[in-house]
Amino acid sequence: MRAIIPTAGVGKRLQPFTHTVPKVLLQVADRPIVGHIIEKVVAQGIRDITFIVGHLGDRIQRYVTRRYPQVNASFVEQAEPLGLGHAVYLGRDLQRDESEPLLVILGDSIIDADLETLAQSEGTDLIGVLEVDNPRRFGVVELDGEFISRMVEKPEHPKTNLAVVGIYYFNHPSILFETLEANIAQGIKTCDEIQLTDALQGMIEKGVRMRLLKVHSWLDCGTPETLLSTNHELLRRRFMDAAFPAARFENVAITPPVCISETARVKDSLIGPDVTIAGDAVVSGSIIRNTIVNEGAQVHNARLTDSIVGNHAVVRESALRLYVGDNSEIVFG
Ligand code: G1P
Repeated sequence: MRAIIPTAGVGKRLQPFTHTVPKVLLQVADRPIVGHIIEKVVAQGIRDITFIVGHLGDRIQRYVTRRYPQVNASFVEQAEPLGLGHAVYLGRDLQRDESEPLLVILGDSIIDADLETLAQSEGTDLIGVLEVDNPRRFGVVELDGEFISRMVEKPEHPKTNLAVVGIYYFNHPSILFETLEANIAQGIKTCDEIQLTDALQGMIEKGVRMRLLKVHSWLDCGTPETLLSTNHELLRRRFMDAAFPAARFENVAITPPVCISETARVKDSLIGPDVTIAGDAVVSGSIIRNTIVNEGAQVHNARLTDSIVGNHAVVRESALRLYVGDNSEIVFG
């Protein structure tokens, strides 16, 4: 099995951070968003992963090749934002063998799904779906018994609240690529983009059988608020009991869960709960709650709650809620 991870989205709702860092490299808990996704894919024994990259794609390539040398990674550029269907289509040439199954996982959210069951799909394709309150912003699935009878991208009047969350398993990807190719050739678009959902609907019409893949949780990373709530959720799942050697920090009280990189330096501060401090960050004299301090950032004599401090940004003497973009410097007083 191989995987395609589309990561080309610009991340407009996460500006200013995404001016200089691709969305999928924003940190949540102990690693960037895409790192969490790669872990899940690799845990299934998948080594061949194609990343579809766009905005700042070289940074994604650098991160993946440095941090995951065991992955046989390939990178394909999507030069224009023509849609998710187009992005996935660009991964077609790396398909070595028509019968090799394909997993597609979107790079911008963290999905907890029953990936162990993929191998038992018995010839049907699987689409990860979760019940949501606002299906209109998703691809929406309609069912006929256990099989998917129809899929519609962002319908105005959704018939169900079963939302496609961004994980797809194809037993025979050649049918997917053929359908995408036809849609691209004919300019079949929804919301002005070549959609993966439209191709899936085309495949259903050709008789491809699709069922639901069980999804336990979908953690959105699309806005500063959801990035913080995803950070909170991952810290609560995995870092409640994280222990720090007493000698590591000088005069620091920690309220779990927190995740502090081994290369971060923290002193004279109250940290937590729900705080991530990334590599090479420096924090002193501060009280920090529900906040992500990104790589190389500095926070001195500040009180921060519900905040995100960008890579290498500097905050001094503040008591505010802040979204501080990369390389900024904020000084109060
Ligand atoms: C994409 C897909 C949509 C899916 C969603 C999940 O939409 O087109 O079918 O429900 O991801 O996040 P986007 O969020 O990129 O507009």
